[in-house]
Amino acid sequence: MVLLNLYIVYFVVCILSVNSTCTTNNDEDVRKFPLNFAFGTATSAYQIEGAWNVSGKGENIWDKYVHKNPNVVIDKSNGDVACDSYHQYDRDIEMLKELGVDYYRFSLSWSRLLPTGSVANVNNDGVDYYNNLINGLLKHNIIPFVTIYHWDLPQKLQDLGGWTNPIIQDFFEDYANFVFRQFGDRVQHWLTFNEPKQICLCGYGQTTFAPGLNMTGVGDYMCGHNLLLSHARVFHLYDKKFRIKQAGSIGITIEGTWSEPFSSSKEDFNAAERFMEFEAGWFMNPIFSIKGDYPAVMKERIAVNSAIQGFSKSRLPEFTEEQIRLLKGSSDFLGLNFYCSTMARHINTNVSSEPSYEDDANVYSYVNQSWPHAASSWLTVTPWGFHNYLNRIKNLYDNPEVIITENGYSTWGGLVDNDRIKYINLHLNALLDAIKDGSKVTGYTVWSLMDNFEWQQGYSEKFGMYEVDFQDPSRKRIPRKSAKYFIDVIRTKSVKHYDPEYYEINDCTNSVYV
Ligand code: NOJ
Repeated sequence: MVLLNLYIVYFVVCILSVNSTCTTNNDEDVRKFPLNFAFGTATSAYQIEGAWNVSGKGENIWDKYVHKNPNVVIDKSNGDVACDSYHQYDRDIEMLKELGVDYYRFSLSWSRLLPTGSVANVNNDGVDYYNNLINGLLKHNIIPFVTIYHWDLPQKLQDLGGWTNPIIQDFFEDYANFVFRQFGDRVQHWLTFNEPKQICLCGYGQTTFAPGLNMTGVGDYMCGHNLLLSHARVFHLYDKKFRIKQAGSIGITIEGTWSEPFSSSKEDFNAAERFMEFEAGWFMNPIFSIKGDYPAVMKERIAVNSAIQGFSKSRLPEFTEEQIRLLKGSSDFLGLNFYCSTMARHINTNVSSEPSYEDDANVYSYVNQSWPHAASSWLTVTPWGFHNYLNRIKNLYDNPEVIITENGYSTWGGLVDNDRIKYINLHLNALLDAIKDGSKVTGYTVWSLMDNFEWQQGYSEKFGMYEVDFQDPSRKRIPRKSAKYFIDVIRTKSVKHYDPEYYEINDCTNSVYV
């Protein structure tokens, strides 16, 4: 309702200025998306829900990590209240309706549903919450696209070793079975995991993410191994027990960063390839490649370094033939989170005596300061890298169906977010270029619906198409200019060629309002 009124103001402003600053682009500037192409936006449970200890929710690793170590978050904030979506989900649905999205990607909080992580102890309030959200979405013809795990492991399971303990595979399978039974009659689009590399590298190899185990070159690989096997088990569980009855599909979301060689030398080219294999390839290769298993370069390098360091076997666990078979093809589509690119340079380093993922990968990877970037220091604006990355997937993995499950831009705030519009516009153009080259991309998701808890960056970096007032107890949400831009993209199923001047001078982004 509030937004409706805003539209009217917008409408009037644009009519008044249509002959001055509001230029409309020519028809030939418009590029159409395929008819079956879908648009959505995304969030995750810990980043938006809040209500961290109410209505029976159990503690998870992020609750514990940020409460114990407030200094790991730049503004010493946490997700205790976040956007308060546990109480404000009606407003979230209203916003999604305003945007006109085809689907909403959100995640389930494992410890809200199963406070100790185990199916022996169900929290019915948590089940009610997600039932209400799912039913509310469906009522407005918004497809729920559900991530089963987006980084918030129940703390009790972490106490057992978390993703480093093979027992986690049983717990994850039981949890997935539980959510398929509870919600699968209405949810037909599933993702097992969001960004495995970040879960394992940042959470078990470093201290950047919960649980902050800090065991680089060991904990990260153990985590990755159990995570991949858990993924395969849940894929096959869905396949055997639920697919026919629930008629859905299930995939995994992996983040891909394009790595640009520093020079045309063979060494730099190999360094860039190695970077991509150690990052996304670590998880994509076992699932999407024809041969399966970890990328050869990972297996070789980690085995050699482990031997030098005196380990009796490689620090990278080995799959059995049966496990390789179970993993291969265990995804109906590839969920790709793409944000940016980095540079890669060859380096000559001696292996240190301590295990280290960095040593194993042995790439000097850095942000090219001359590329434009967002508020987040890592987030460079490289749509050409997106195009390259999609082509790489097409060529390397036999052209799987790809859904862009995240793409987005951070600012320091403000309602007029021309740079975000520019970023989305450029990436949608790159995506269309990739489709033209033959990539099977079927969906595009903006991260994020609204500002939320950006992990270590707290509430300082804003990714939302809706601004959230974190000082306001009701966490008021207001649409940014990018929300209006996205409405137009979805409504017309088209995007305009990027016109650098257009967004600079024109505050009436979309002709839809005039
Ligand atoms: C990827 C993660 O899935 C999401 O949680 C995060 O907020 C965005 N990237 C932005 O950093």
